Amino acid sequence: MGCVASGWEPIEISEDELVDGDAYHHALYHNGDTNEPAEWHKVSVEKLINLAIPHIKDGALIVDYGCGTGGSAIELLKTLDMRGLEVELILIDPLVSWFSKARELLGERSNVHFELSVQMDISGKRSFRRLEDMLSGRKADLIISSSTLHLIPAKTIGNLVLQFANSLDEDGIFIWDSGDLESDLRPEDSALLHDPYRHVREIIRKDSLRSSRLSGMSVVDRERHESRLDRIFPSPIHVQVILDALSDVGFSIEVSDLVVDFSHGDAERFILVPRLAEVAAPLLKGVERTIAIKKALRDSLEMIADDGRGTGTHYRSHWVYGLHKLT
Ligand SMILES: C[S@@+](CC[C@H](N)C(=O)[O-])C[C@H]1O[C@@H](n2cnc3c(N)ncnc32)[C@H](O)[C@@H]1O
Repeated sequence: MGCVASGWEPIEISEDELVDGDAYHHALYHNGDTNEPAEWHKVSVEKLINLAIPHIKDGALIVDYGCGTGGSAIELLKTLDMRGLEVELILIDPLVSWFSKARELLGERSNVHFELSVQMDISGKRSFRRLEDMLSGRKADLIISSSTLHLIPAKTIGNLVLQFANSLDEDGIFIWDSGDLESDLRPEDSALLHDPYRHVREIIRKDSLRSSRLSGMSVVDRERHESRLDRIFPSPIHVQVILDALSDVGFSIEVSDLVVDFSHGDAERFILVPRLAEVAAPLLKGVERTIAIKKALRDSLEMIADDGRGTGTHYRSHWVYGLHKLT
């Protein structure tokens, strides 16, 4: 049977992109089995879904903004299916490699629609599409965004939450989570989700083989290369930046939090996803990069445990959740 979902479909996807999407899916689901979510994924997204469920009625139009390989959507659909609730779900993401995995996993569902959120003009310039346009003027009952807002540059958050406000029905709700935001809520014995991986980047930044490879690049290329790598796990912004932007466009503010254990094995699977393992470039893809990352991650997780923010088996990641209505 062919795909029955609608919207974007991957064309001419490369082998590297397929491998990347598959690896992120395996970072969320052990053995790639959607019945076996990694504990951190299951626990973190479960709270978001529990916040959302009371607001979802049969026939609701739901948007998952930043759906990646489909991890949040898969868990939401499991809960909705169990409750016999039928909804229309619009999945949105800019990253072809991960989005194509979501399409592979959920493409058989007629109630799921895919919108790639980037476009290219005739000069080859890439830009984000507006949510209002992707919804063709329809209004959503619920927008969710799981583990994505910390990746949005602070200067564009105001514009994005305005798009959310414009795209919601008057009774609509926006619900999100993020494990990588500074906040006053975070207990001292927890870390941010990406702390171990930022630390890996810092350790490998000084790697002698990497430095010698970098020295072969022109100054301009080196700066461009390094700033691209710094954007993989960007410095965390404060949750207040997001909350202020939401208030400014008329959303109410309800915030809660959760500490989620992230096992060392899951952390290794996570950072070895090719797109994320790029933090070690220009060390060569494959064995060279993998060995350097594994060693740096061990040191990084040990440091986090020594700081009292984890143990010998896991680190404690701190997640913030927001629920917002238009006032
Ligand atoms: C960590 S994934 C989360 C995927 C999914 N929601 C989940 O819970 O498994 C974050 C997603 O945000 C997307 N993303 C990154 N930067 C973005 C941006 N500036 N605007 C919109 N989406 C972005 C990425 O492509 C990625 O798929």
